[in-house]
Amino acid sequence: MSINNQAQFEGIKRVGHVVGITLKKMREYAQAGMSTKELDEFGYAILRKFGAHPAPLKDYNFPGYTCISLNHEACHGIPSHKRIIQEGDLINIDVSAELNGYYGDNGGSFIIGKDHQNLQPLVDASQEILNLAISNIKHNVRIYEIGGLIKKEANKRGFKVIKNLCGHGIGRKLHEAPKEIPNFKDRLNRGRLKKNMVIALETFISTNANYVYETDDDWTMLAENNSFVAQHEHTLIVTEGQPIVLTKVNGI
Ligand code: CO
Ligand code: CO
Repeated sequence: MSINNQAQFEGIKRVGHVVGITLKKMREYAQAGMSTKELDEFGYAILRKFGAHPAPLKDYNFPGYTCISLNHEACHGIPSHKRIIQEGDLINIDVSAELNGYYGDNGGSFIIGKDHQNLQPLVDASQEILNLAISNIKHNVRIYEIGGLIKKEANKRGFKVIKNLCGHGIGRKLHEAPKEIPNFKDRLNRGRLKKNMVIALETFISTNANYVYETDDDWTMLAENNSFVAQHEHTLIVTEGQPIVLTKVNGI
């Protein structure tokens, strides 16, 4: 959506704050020995306290409140009582929700406890590249320039990007135009980001995969080549200067 008045600005800002707080609290709560469903239910309770509705469930009938993906899973992992988080796991939590007709979306990858798979450099790359990409977003920038920057920075650090997962427009639905904000220089994508546009920018940085594929549960996206994937995501408003990031909490 495009923000055209103060009421829309307040609405989108509020839900951005709610998903930001929820993700932060879930990150702090996550620990080895806990099931992904327990973590999901913890997040749901926070969303409900704010009056927000989980977007994956509302818009897509996803079988969970948040998406929780472990290790080789890139995204859309289904929370389950049977999935127990282990020390050293790479975990991604993605929280998106609707509140009063507005949507917010954010996500982040991190390591549980001791990093015995040596994945902190991947996590750091994803986080840094997201921040760098955000700082390069302004009115009229071509979508493929942002994707090109993300891939260049990933390659510079010895990583790859996932080509079939993208950022997206957001606002009155979880996914809106622009439909795809890829992590590479997709020259077929001729779109530009415009002032007041609300988008969810998300990195998908991998150790060794260019693509992910859907598993038999019809949701979980698994990386090819036994690769690990880190994702970080913020919802923001494009301006003529630096974007207004709606989902940052305490600078993260
Ligand atoms: Co998301
Ligand atoms: Co998203």
